[in-house]
Amino acid sequence: MEKRFIESTNFPVVDVSLASAKEKGGGGRPPYWEMVFWWTRKPLASARAVIAGALLPENIDVKDFKINLKLTSNICHKHNPTIPSEWRKYFEDKKLLDPFAGFGSIPLEGLRLGLDVTAVELLPVAYVFLKAVLEYPKKYGKKLVYDVEKWGKWIIEQLKNDPDIKELYDPDVAVYIGTWEIKCPHCHKWTPLIGNWWLARVKKNRKGKKEKTEEIYSRLVWMTPESQGDKILINIIDLNEKLGLKEIRAKVDPDKGKVILGNRVFNVLRPNINARNNSAFCLHCRNPIKYIDTKTGRYYTETEKLPRYIKKNIEWYVKYAIKQYSMGNNEYARQRLLVKIKILNKNLKFESANEEDNDKLLKASEKIEQIWGDPDIPTELIEPYCSSTYHTIVWGLDKFYKLFNPRQLLTLVKLVKLIRKAGKKIEEEKLKEDWNEKEAFRYAEAVTTYLTIPLMKFIDYNTLVNLWNPGSWSWNKVAHSLSMRGMAMQWNWCEILPIIDLPLAYSGTLKNTIKGLSYLINAAHDSLSKIRITLDDATMLSKLDFKKFNIIITDPPYYDDVPYTELSDFYFVWLKRCLSDIVEGCLVPRFIPEAFFKKIGAKWAEIKTQWSESDIVMREVSLNLGRLGVSLEEGKKYFLDLLSHSFMVMSERLVDNGVLVSYYAHTDPDAWEALLEAGWRAGKFKVTNAFPLITESAQRVTARGKVVLDTSIIVVWRKGLNDIGDADEIYREALQVASGRALELVRIGRLGADLFIGTMSSVLSLYTGFREVTSKRGKLSVGELVKEYVYPATAIAIARALSRLAGIKGFKVSGEVKSPSGLFYLLCKALFVRSPRAKRRVIDRSSFIMLAIGAKAYRKDLRKLKIVVKKDSKIHLMEPKGSDKYSVEDLLKNRSISITEPVLNNSVDALHLLEYYAISLPKETFKERLEWLRGEYPIFVEEALIIAGILAEILPKGDPEKDLCTQILERGGLMREDQSLLTRFMS
Ligand SMILES: C[S@@+](CC[C@H](N)C(=O)[O-])C[C@H]1O[C@@H](n2cnc3c(N)ncnc32)[C@H](O)[C@@H]1O
Ligand SMILES: [Zn+2]
Repeated sequence: MEKRFIESTNFPVVDVSLASAKEKGGGGRPPYWEMVFWWTRKPLASARAVIAGALLPENIDVKDFKINLKLTSNICHKHNPTIPSEWRKYFEDKKLLDPFAGFGSIPLEGLRLGLDVTAVELLPVAYVFLKAVLEYPKKYGKKLVYDVEKWGKWIIEQLKNDPDIKELYDPDVAVYIGTWEIKCPHCHKWTPLIGNWWLARVKKNRKGKKEKTEEIYSRLVWMTPESQGDKILINIIDLNEKLGLKEIRAKVDPDKGKVILGNRVFNVLRPNINARNNSAFCLHCRNPIKYIDTKTGRYYTETEKLPRYIKKNIEWYVKYAIKQYSMGNNEYARQRLLVKIKILNKNLKFESANEEDNDKLLKASEKIEQIWGDPDIPTELIEPYCSSTYHTIVWGLDKFYKLFNPRQLLTLVKLVKLIRKAGKKIEEEKLKEDWNEKEAFRYAEAVTTYLTIPLMKFIDYNTLVNLWNPGSWSWNKVAHSLSMRGMAMQWNWCEILPIIDLPLAYSGTLKNTIKGLSYLINAAHDSLSKIRITLDDATMLSKLDFKKFNIIITDPPYYDDVPYTELSDFYFVWLKRCLSDIVEGCLVPRFIPEAFFKKIGAKWAEIKTQWSESDIVMREVSLNLGRLGVSLEEGKKYFLDLLSHSFMVMSERLVDNGVLVSYYAHTDPDAWEALLEAGWRAGKFKVTNAFPLITESAQRVTARGKVVLDTSIIVVWRKGLNDIGDADEIYREALQVASGRALELVRIGRLGADLFIGTMSSVLSLYTGFREVTSKRGKLSVGELVKEYVYPATAIAIARALSRLAGIKGFKVSGEVKSPSGLFYLLCKALFVRSPRAKRRVIDRSSFIMLAIGAKAYRKDLRKLKIVVKKDSKIHLMEPKGSDKYSVEDLLKNRSISITEPVLNNSVDALHLLEYYAISLPKETFKERLEWLRGEYPIFVEEALIIAGILAEILPKGDPEKDLCTQILERGGLMREDQSLLTRFMS
């Protein structure tokens, strides 16, 4: 079968990684990502390169590839790709399938390349977003922008004129900061719970050094409490105002709450709540707030000695109080506004919220009571089983509407009604313009969906759990509620004025949406591509228009990474309302009914939430023990089963000479096995290439002092397996092929994860070429194959390539590193870059396991021999911290190796001892010492010299061991005089 470009070593992995990394931050993010938050979106540059690479033949010109795909331009995705006429035949009429489409990076790039694209998603929420990203912009083009803008403005105008909104909000307040207040069980006064007294701690130069040193701040503002009778008043200390300074040079220690200006010291209070360890205290009487017997209501300051029958009813008072509030009892807890923020001359003005402001919250609460029963209030239950997703559940916030304060809720309900009304007006308008009924309806659906998206973003930033972030540089950096993997209770939340013209109010999120929409129109409207979006289960694919696809490019969920179903329910309950109608007090289908209702006979039944619908939640490919209610073992099996089915189905859907490419972000060794189990064993695909996609910039990674092997891995698969292979025979071949590949990779400067995964892919492609692999013991399981053959072959192949490189270059040492500890040490040094600033090389758990298995070293032994140490649950490699005598001496001491009468355990000990000798002894004495040591520990010393040869060659300049190893070689007379060899090699 003809190879495709993505299967060749010419595929420009590094350029694709770089282009992808640029999409991560700054101005590089695709604008349509700002429309609404979604998890694990893949960089467009990667999707584009992978799709094109899967269609183009092996031998195309790399330079052309980069230029045509715009990988060479600063931000790749800002430009549409060019398809030159000689490429047309590879793209025309080609069908692409992405069965796990998510937010649609892969299908979008498919459209830009002119393909016939099918995007499948299981989740209704993602399905609606996919329509917005892929279908509507393509279908309607610029007129959609016009109408979204027009009707968005109409909604804002209506809201501005709403009498309730006028009554409940002050038009000059941009943001309110509020928190929970509880009735103190000691003094019975209301005390607010303040998680952070800071309001602004903004450095002039955001990228500046860490806090605690003197720096220039553009804003320093905090709150202080004042107990006055029954009340806690909030005072505001605005240091800029107080000192009349625009910029303040100060040393700020947020942990200790100190602001130091020369010899003046200001104190900022510590929080009076720490929910993690159940501690809080009252701001009036300063008593700690302890526990309550939930049965009797009796309060206890001490619970240790209580009898068991009471202990079982004991709950932390704060939690109890808020739970009571959630159940409608306002006696123990309530919400309270602390601060209001105005904008004056583009600057923030902080004022304390007064009684009048708080009365408005109460008013809103009354208004909610008046409309209680309105179907636009989302009373659906939040999933109760994985509290790590919605931490808020344990505080009694068990229904979606409870995530909002009454005023926020009232506003959202009004916005839903306005969006629905706009949808009707748009339809009417189009009918008046003589559109046919169907088209007018479809168009109204598109515009209404686009009016709903900014609401989703607005909601995400307007709950009881979105935190005010004092360290941010601009007021609009309010943290959003759906942080990466779940929601957590917050003690200073923000409420944004809905009608203000600011980025996170509806008007601002509308503007963002329009920007996103314009981007999408520009990307896809004119292309000759086709799009189909299907709400379907990737493990079945029973609803597709086509039988077969030319390529399948997809990004399945990774193990337990994101509970998509439950998290996106946060959007679901609101999306459903905006896009459906209300008849006789009930929600009924209107737009995109298949997402929100299911057909039972001739009737539509409302889907309450995604999590409560077993056809949805139980079909999500995911490892989620809470959801399944099973053990870890069973959970893994469940995940594997679904992933396997999806690969089997993909195999059925792929033409015989087609290419399947999967992204996979989890490289836990277990996850690798799962992927092989699904792709190879169940799907009967063989791996033809694999490479990591590193989307974090190298700088950032090294700044953290680690390079992990778990980035996104891209695996290329093909159909057609041979029958049965012999594991040991393949091993021999694999070593040869893989060390060749490794050498090739090192030569083009690819170290780290690139080198490991790239080398492993050539081992995998040999093994997975067979349906079954057997050893003397019989058929091998995937686990056995990976642990006993794949990782070891990869490790040895890399070491071999490195030895060859050092041998070819200027040293007289050559040979292979074979001992487990030597191999492990070498690989860690080669694969993990250490920044000069980081004190230690940190190895993530997954990589540690893979490398240890690969080197055939026991992890326990590596720790016992002090090749690595575990500190704060992190694994560090034990290596010289500097290239001076004392650093090496320190290391030897740590390993209890005597300098004069050494007892060595392995070649790594020998290496470090030689390093010490090399920098502390004159040349002749060093040579004597070396010979003596060689006599005592011949094998260790030989290997240590080989390692020294390799490290002297491959380590980057900043690594102290590069110098140390070079010294060993120089002093030992092991440098070749004939450096011309080196030059010959380099050319
Ligand atoms: C890693 S995400 C894909 C992200 C996407 N590539 C992007 O760039 O936005 C995986 C997606 O698979 C979806 N999914 C999970 N199980 C599924 C199933 N059985 N059928 C179809 N889609 C499923 C999830 O809802 C999630 O959106
Ligand atoms: Zn008190």
